[in-house]
Amino acid sequence: MGHRSIIEPFRIKCVEPIRMTTRAQRRNFLEEAAYNPFLLHADHVLIDLLTDSGTGAMSAEQWASIMRGDESYAGGRSYYRLLDVIQSIFGFRYVLPTHQGRAAERILFSSMCKPGDVVPNNTHFDTTRANIEETGAQAVDLPTAEGRLPAAIHPFKGNMDVDALETVIAQAGADRVPLVVLTVTNNSGGGQPVSMANIRAVRAVCNRHRIPLYIDACRFAENSWFIREREEGYAGKTPREVARELFSYADGCTMSAKKDGLVNIGGFLACNDEALVKRESRLLILTEGFPTYGGLAGRDLEAMATGLEEVLHEDYLHYRIASTAYLGDHLTRIGVPIVQPPGGHAIYIDAAAMLPHVPARLFPGQALVAELYLEGGIRAVEIGTVMFGSTDAQTGEETVAAMELVRLAIPRRVYTQSHIDYVCEVLSDVFARRDRIAGLRMVWQAPPLRHFTARFQPV
Ligand code: F0G
Repeated sequence: MGHRSIIEPFRIKCVEPIRMTTRAQRRNFLEEAAYNPFLLHADHVLIDLLTDSGTGAMSAEQWASIMRGDESYAGGRSYYRLLDVIQSIFGFRYVLPTHQGRAAERILFSSMCKPGDVVPNNTHFDTTRANIEETGAQAVDLPTAEGRLPAAIHPFKGNMDVDALETVIAQAGADRVPLVVLTVTNNSGGGQPVSMANIRAVRAVCNRHRIPLYIDACRFAENSWFIREREEGYAGKTPREVARELFSYADGCTMSAKKDGLVNIGGFLACNDEALVKRESRLLILTEGFPTYGGLAGRDLEAMATGLEEVLHEDYLHYRIASTAYLGDHLTRIGVPIVQPPGGHAIYIDAAAMLPHVPARLFPGQALVAELYLEGGIRAVEIGTVMFGSTDAQTGEETVAAMELVRLAIPRRVYTQSHIDYVCEVLSDVFARRDRIAGLRMVWQAPPLRHFTARFQPV
């Protein structure tokens, strides 16, 4: 069977129309949105690759779970089912449901961090960084050397640089490092996985300095699949066994179930520390809700429990990783420079390499995002200087990001192979006239997280 297509391991029971627009319409929509894809109306988008977060399709079993949800205010059955599922996969004793990942982050970091602290991560996601900085602590990214090179081929480009971690701890002092975080897979670094060996090595450093290790677990199932496929000693294990081992090295995790929880909303915070979970519960009650529902309805908890089970199915993960690679390999054949090898949830185009004539201060990634929409109604997102750079208020000088990437995130179980073929065709046309793509000037911004609302004009 090795020579046959890896097909979608589902059939379609419910469809949602998507509509084509004309180029003239898209030009208007783009101008109205000030060249920012976050400001477009989703109805004006044909293929939406803005994010894989909360955009997945639920299964028939998840929709059935929605009906089974227990809406009791306290002690609901759905909470206990979710608790069981999370304990059996993640292995943590305490679980606080939250409405999404960043709510878990906010509660965790406000419970653990104070001004002057330093939090190392392989690479912080934007909301994670912002939630750490909000407490007055500093968020430090420690990717490995390969992780910084888009074209370099390495099986685990999401790894943390363990020597750099030692250096950061030595410089700050261990008492200034309230926790270390590992993001699996490393989203901002190209959706690249972290190896079990790296997790163990980071754990060893944390043990030596008595620092807790947390996993940002959004895409834990995809990371577990990569470990099984690429790391020695894991070929015979199920994704669930790999996940269990992965979390066994951690003191807790934050989770956005909008990714590998296969739901449209939901998340949680988990740990084994009773004193800490008491402090966190106080905050949870203040901003999210009673600890047996967090910011969610009982039906959401139920759908999340079912999603966490489904995401570890082998035929699902096989298809998921293969279909992302399908897009990546196609683009590579056309000549489009992408972060290699293809990651789990998205393909990242190296906009700096594709548009070398557009300097970082004119946002090559954002310019490419605008072109993809104009050419084919495809919505992507810039992960570069718009997202991670900043403008000096005095001089107007732009601090630029290390990489200028454009992310094509693949929603889970939503698009078929012909949708992806269409994306390749559009990219091929844009690539053919790349020399004529000019940059954009940012004409308005509101930090932090300026990328959500920034406005642009063509130069
Ligand atoms: N951590 C990582 C690695 C993420 O990718 C995200 C969200 C979060 C935390 C926050 O979770 O959105 O549920 O509050 N990433 C989405 C994305 C938004 O498009 O990559 P959230």
